[in-house]
Amino acid sequence: MLTIISGGSSGIGLQTCIDILSSDSKAFCAIVDINEPDYSFFKKSTINRVKYFECDVSKYNDSQNCFKKIIKWNKKITNLVTCAAINIVNPVISYSVEDWERVISINLTGTFIWCNLVSNHMVNTKNKGSVVTVSSIASHFGFEGRSAYTASKCGVIGFTKVLSNELSDKNIRVNCISPGFTETSLLKEKIHEGVINRKDLLEKNAIKRIADPSEISNVILFLLDSNKSSYITGQNIFVDGGFINKKMD
Ligand SMILES: NC(=O)c1ccc[n+]([C@@H]2O[C@H](COP(=O)([O-])OP(=O)(O)OC[C@H]3O[C@@H](n4cnc5c(N)ncnc54)[C@H](O)[C@@H]3O)[C@@H](O)[C@H]2O)c1
Repeated sequence: MLTIISGGSSGIGLQTCIDILSSDSKAFCAIVDINEPDYSFFKKSTINRVKYFECDVSKYNDSQNCFKKIIKWNKKITNLVTCAAINIVNPVISYSVEDWERVISINLTGTFIWCNLVSNHMVNTKNKGSVVTVSSIASHFGFEGRSAYTASKCGVIGFTKVLSNELSDKNIRVNCISPGFTETSLLKEKIHEGVINRKDLLEKNAIKRIADPSEISNVILFLLDSNKSSYITGQNIFVDGGFINKKMD
């Protein structure tokens, strides 16, 4: 059983990889990322079941070549998690087309490319499977400055709904998770840039803290496990500490 995790070298993707390998001694993970992971995060007993594949998910040819290498390593692909994403914050009036295209191409096109490659393989090999895409609470709001990020994350939810219908008779479930603010490099970078205020975040969250990546990966593992989530497909699940449900004063 092999899970491919795009953006698996850091944050939520890395935590998902660590948790998959620790929870099942037969599980393998392929990390697809532009950056190599820090292998010291992995337990010694799991390290021979994880392999890093360098790839820019926004590029189709790069992704296709990378996917061929993954298949050479392990053909039994049953799961895909698409975490790779970036966020560039700027108001629309000063947003450059280059930045817009970069965000959309990694977050949305990258999700399409990897779902396209992996679901094709799953269908051809008749592997049962589960795909988890990653959106964000940004899809629910109109956070200023996040036009491209929000558009990409709304796109991921719509894309997930369509793919789940297209694959439902092939024994492949497709779901999306929308995390709230989670303690990863993506969030730390925005706090450091002054784009997000940590105190503000805590006040606006029903559960008054920022999520640990494991609280997001727990839900991803649940959705990947066909024994536990066999009747769930086409959903977008908010894992946000009550953020979108909180009444704003
Ligand atoms: N951290 C949060 O608060 C938060 C909130 C909501 C949604 N999310 C979503 O969760 C997912 C994971 O985010 P994270 O917080 O773990 O971020 P992160 O920055 O820690 O990890 C993102 C990973 O994507 C990789 N990546 C970036 N561009 C790439 C490219 N072109 N090709 C391949 N890999 C690339 C990075 O190298 C990194 O390893 C993202 O989709 C993000 O939008 C995060």
